Amino acid sequence: MPVQASVLLIGACGFVGGTVLSRLSHTHPSVHITCLVRRAEAVKELTLRYPGNVTTIVNNDPSLRFLEALAETADLVINAGCNDIPGICALLDGLAASHASSNGPPLLPQLISLTGPRSLIDLSQPMTGSQRPDSRPWSDVDDTAAILSMPHERIHAGADQAIVAHSLSRGVGTVLVSPGQLWGQGEGPCRIESNSAMYYAAIKARGRAFVVGDGSATWSWTSVRDLGDAVVFLAGMALVDGKRQVGVNREGYYFVRTGDLSMMERARAASERLDLGEVEAISVEEAKRIHPFGHVMWACGERTRADRLAQLGWTPKQAQWRLLMEEKGGARA
Ligand SMILES: NC(=O)c1ccc[n+]([C@@H]2O[C@H](COP(=O)([O-])OP(=O)(O)OC[C@H]3O[C@@H](n4cnc5c(N)ncnc54)[C@H](OP(=O)(O)O)[C@@H]3O)[C@@H](O)[C@H]2O)c1
Repeated sequence: MPVQASVLLIGACGFVGGTVLSRLSHTHPSVHITCLVRRAEAVKELTLRYPGNVTTIVNNDPSLRFLEALAETADLVINAGCNDIPGICALLDGLAASHASSNGPPLLPQLISLTGPRSLIDLSQPMTGSQRPDSRPWSDVDDTAAILSMPHERIHAGADQAIVAHSLSRGVGTVLVSPGQLWGQGEGPCRIESNSAMYYAAIKARGRAFVVGDGSATWSWTSVRDLGDAVVFLAGMALVDGKRQVGVNREGYYFVRTGDLSMMERARAASERLDLGEVEAISVEEAKRIHPFGHVMWACGERTRADRLAQLGWTPKQAQWRLLMEEKGGARA
């Protein structure tokens, strides 16, 4: 069934948002997509790539009133860029204003906002590069309450909880989409590489692949294109009337996960490809010297289980992390 709706997308120039845009415009060509971007040059890139169903609005410092008014015109907002809580709350206010009468309980998803599983990292424990003995995979069905009650100082935690609280207070359905490590090349018109390009550059510059400690710390991963598909799948369910089985707010936290990969497996694969020899064990302090965020990127890991998407019938398609690491020139690891 063709979906006729209006979607506001924030982050179309980014790694994730660009891929979402590509997948959304191909899967639902009858959906009108408005992209809010910050750089004027992006208009040309987006217009050339998507001459049909995409409109681009440039505003490099949108006011809260502007965001609210923009969201008011949309059936669904996809946020793959804005991490500013007042800005996201303004989007929710706009959605609440336009959908108050039509969206009775159970709520339909109206905001899909990207987040990440770094809220699962227990900052009170030392980061060592080893998988903690008590570590277990987190389920987005069984552990939602715990995931949405993490201490606010953890990355993503405060924002996730503020967004859900504001959604509840305004009667808006929000879905938080949380991928782990992202593999593969993005499909957007602007940024097509992400954090994995950073590790690749770091080991090339050092001349050795490295792990912190024994490198057993493990992150769950998915491909950026599967992430794009998962967002489009949820958007499609949100936009087709009557599909109210998509959990929102306190039941609206969705991991997107394909597999698990330890830092050591990743380092060995990258080292083999670049012919860098034996993997080096480094300290947390050295990781921080290589990159100020090195300890968070390379000295810890959490495994997730995407049970909610599985219940809805969505499964990832790209299961070979090594192919994704090496595809299209592969300057990522
Ligand atoms: N990349 C990953 O590995 C990864 C993993 C897990 C979760 N995530 C989550 O996915 C989301 C997107 O990440 P990403 O890697 O795609 O980031 P990205 O490549 O930096 O893209 C973010 C985009 O959002 C735009 N943007 C940022 N703040 C904005 C604002 N206030 N208003 C309007 N546009 C704004 C940026 O605009 P400019 O082009 O003007 O800078 C950029 O195009 C984030 O929430 C991130 O936490 C990413």
